[in-house]
Amino acid sequence: MSDKTTHFGYKTVKVEEKAGKVAEVFHSVAGKYDLMNDLMSGGVHRLWKRMTIEMSGVRRGDTVLDIAGGTGDLTAKFSRIVGPEGTVVLADINDSMLRVGRDRLTDLGIVNNVKFSQADAQYLPFPDNSFDVITIAFGLRNVTDKDLALRSMLRVLKPGGRLLVLEFSSPVQSSSI
Ligand SMILES: C[S@@+](CC[C@H](N)C(=O)[O-])C[C@H]1O[C@@H](n2cnc3c(N)ncnc32)[C@H](O)[C@@H]1O
Repeated sequence: MSDKTTHFGYKTVKVEEKAGKVAEVFHSVAGKYDLMNDLMSGGVHRLWKRMTIEMSGVRRGDTVLDIAGGTGDLTAKFSRIVGPEGTVVLADINDSMLRVGRDRLTDLGIVNNVKFSQADAQYLPFPDNSFDVITIAFGLRNVTDKDLALRSMLRVLKPGGRLLVLEFSSPVQSSSI
């Protein structure tokens, strides 16, 4: 074990412990994640996700990777836009979240152009230059080595492709005027 630490919510934990703690949280909330998301954001996450789709410039026939896609909100929207000529991969490290996502998309009738992949954002199991669009919504904060994950995303993104990271942060005020 090393002495290196990292953030886990407002806590500081050992680097080696973070993935296990993140997994525990999402295994336990998977069944009620969508309800919690609506309650905790007052439904605003839906607006942010719609903006993400618009900014992605996604088109019919595109190949899309939704990393840390959880219960599949973005995947469902992408799936409708890329149509039968396109593909959307819903990737998440957590099998409980993926299972809820798969059931939900099946209930919505969205399955034909969607693939599911249990994958760690740090070690994406896809060939180089595979995707036109990659998103990671409220997921990067959960990843232990964010640089490693971003490099992995860049590797699988096609040249000229678009990566969108949807995340919370504290605004920084510049004093250099
Ligand atoms: C807050 S949820 C976001 C779900 C979805 N993107 C949304 O916006 O509703 C975070 C997701 O990140 C996933 N996750 C955490 N660490 C991950 C990793 N290293 N690689 C891939 N997914 C990860 C969790 O399992 C969880 O489903």
